[in-house]
Amino acid sequence: MIHYGLDGRAALVTGAGSGIGRASAIAFARSGASVMVSDVNEAGGAETVAMIEAAGGKAQFCRCDVGNGDDIAALVDATVAAFGRLDCAFNNAGINSLAADEYEDAVWERAIAVNLSGVMRCMREEARVMLPAGGGAIVNTASINGLVGNPAQPAYTAAKHGVVGLTRHAALRWATQGIRVNAVCPGVIATAMTAPLVENPDMRKVVEAMTPMGRFGTPEDIAEAVVWLCCDAAGFVTGHPMVIDGGATAV
Ligand SMILES: NC(=O)c1ccc[n+]([C@@H]2O[C@H](COP(=O)([O-])OP(=O)(O)OC[C@H]3O[C@@H](n4cnc5c(N)ncnc54)[C@H](O)[C@@H]3O)[C@@H](O)[C@H]2O)c1
Repeated sequence: MIHYGLDGRAALVTGAGSGIGRASAIAFARSGASVMVSDVNEAGGAETVAMIEAAGGKAQFCRCDVGNGDDIAALVDATVAAFGRLDCAFNNAGINSLAADEYEDAVWERAIAVNLSGVMRCMREEARVMLPAGGGAIVNTASINGLVGNPAQPAYTAAKHGVVGLTRHAALRWATQGIRVNAVCPGVIATAMTAPLVENPDMRKVVEAMTPMGRFGTPEDIAEAVVWLCCDAAGFVTGHPMVIDGGATAV
């Protein structure tokens, strides 16, 4: 386990009640950061806090629906109130409406509100406290569907492409003001979101065949990259959509 040198710093993670967000919250804490664990799912968030505390780390929970701007502002304020600062932010909460028709207005609007507008509002509120403090590091969760097309999911694909564009925009906007902004673009990762694939032997084979490394990714595969992107060793890295997909998009 690598220690990324975040002692004395504070991190917030959205969607930290499960999957990639939980693994990243745990990785931030393992590297010394105090972590504000956030999710709409209070039980999942509480479980993540308990896991961090059991390992000797420091964490608190704040409920936040990233589809709601007031919740996001309150989350950032709660982080500063709890830890006195905000150094690292992982804007990760997302939904996948695979079973629904994303051309339906309501489905489209919710997918964009959570997956794209939520990231914009998180960055806006995080910058509100990071800029006066001299900077920070932000990582947004995009997807390989933010770089290549996906015939099944128009809103998810559009939102994740939007996250990559927004990340590049924000990196340029704040480049001289101390805030670095990057994205992670996971391939297929075994989490609750992909349970229908993980649990179906035929679908497992399809995913494994389309991934040159022949396996699903793990939440920890993504968490390591997220915490590295937030640490001082990545001090010249900004505007980068980091692909972590076992080679799926290298084909
Ligand atoms: N699993 C994959 O294969 C994969 C691939 C590429 C990108 N992603 C992205 O990774 C991120 C995390 O997904 P995961 O795979 O860990 O899934 P997950 O379902 O395990 O975790 C997502 C978490 O986000 C929370 N959440 C959902 N809507 C929310 C909202 N409106 N506000 C706050 N929290 C909310 C959920 O409660 C859940 O705890 C998402 O943005 C997803 O699009 C996942």
